[in-house]
Amino acid sequence: MKLPELFSLCETRLNHIFEQYLTKPITPSPLLQEAAAYSVNNGGKRLRPLFVYATGIALDASLENLDIPACAIEFIHSYSLVHDDLPAMDNADLRRGKPSCHKKFDEAMAILAGDTLQPLAFEIIASHPATLTCAQRLAMIKVLAEASGYHGMAAGQALDIKGIHNAEELIQMYQLKTGALLNASLQLGVIAANNIEGKISPSIRKFADCIGLAFQIQDDLLDIESQDLTGKPQGLDAQNNKPTYPTLFGIEQSKQKIHSLFAEGIQAIAFLGEKGKILQALAEHVMQRKK
Ligand code: IPE
Ligand code: IPE
Ligand code: MG
Ligand code: MG
Ligand code: MG
Repeated sequence: MKLPELFSLCETRLNHIFEQYLTKPITPSPLLQEAAAYSVNNGGKRLRPLFVYATGIALDASLENLDIPACAIEFIHSYSLVHDDLPAMDNADLRRGKPSCHKKFDEAMAILAGDTLQPLAFEIIASHPATLTCAQRLAMIKVLAEASGYHGMAAGQALDIKGIHNAEELIQMYQLKTGALLNASLQLGVIAANNIEGKISPSIRKFADCIGLAFQIQDDLLDIESQDLTGKPQGLDAQNNKPTYPTLFGIEQSKQKIHSLFAEGIQAIAFLGEKGKILQALAEHVMQRKK
C-alpha cells in the first residue's frame, strides 16, 4: 500500500465512526457533543490513527479491527490537546488555525469535552462492533490506559507543567507526553493483528521511540520557526518560559537530532522488508512535516 491510499482510507474510515459518535444525536447535552466534535474534527493530521493503520496493515490485521483503536487513540489525543490549551496549562487561544475549544465554547465546556472524549475512547474499544475478541479489546484498553495516565501522557504533561531542570528530564518528559501515545499507536496495531499481548518487538518499539522523540523536538522547533502553518500560537513555549530541546541545545543541533532520530528509527524497522515499507513511508512523511 502507498501513502496516498493510507491517508484516504484513514480519513474515510475515521469519519464514518466519528459520524456515529460525534454527529448523530447521542447525548442529552448537544452542546457537550458539539464541543467534543469541534475538538476532534478541526483539521488534525491524524498521525496516531495513521500509525495504527500502517502497523496493522503491515501485520495483516483487518481494517475493521483497526478502525476501533485508530478512533480511540484520536479521541485521547484530541482530549489531551483540549486540556493542554486550557489557561491552567499552556493557555493557547488557537488550535489548528481556529479558536481553541475553551475560546470557542468556554473553560467549563472544554474541560467537559476532554472528560467526554477520554472515556469515549474506552467505550468504543469495549463495545463498538468488530471481530475483535474480548481479549484483544482488554489488551487495547490496557495499552491505551497505560499510555494516557500515570505511565504516559498525563505524567509527561505534569512534568512539563511543573518544569524540567536538565536534558535528561526533558527527554523523559517528551517520551511521556508525546512518545507514549505514539508507541501505543503501534502497539494497538499489533494487538489488532492478533498479538493479544500487544508486545511489539524491541525493534518496532525502538522505531516508535525515535519517531516520538523526533516528533516532539520538531513540534518545539515549529513553535519557534514555522511560518504560521501550524495553526497554533507561535512562540508560546518561550512566552510560557518552557525549556525545550531547541532552547537547551540550539536550533542546528535540534535539526541534527531530528534527522539522526528518524534515520535510527527507520533503520530499526529495516528488517520488516517490504511489509514495513508503509511504516517507513509514514515516518518519512512525518519527517518532512511543516505543520
Ligand atoms: C500535537 O500533536 C501535540 C504533540 C504531541 C506535539 P499533532 O501535531 O499530532 O496535532 P494535530 O492532531 O495534527 O493537530
Ligand atoms: C504536547 O506538547 C501536548 C500533549 C501531549 C497534549 P505541546 O504543548 O508542545 O503541544 P502543542 O504544541 O500545544 O500542540
Ligand atoms: Mg503543552
Ligand atoms: Mg501546548
Ligand atoms: Mg508545542
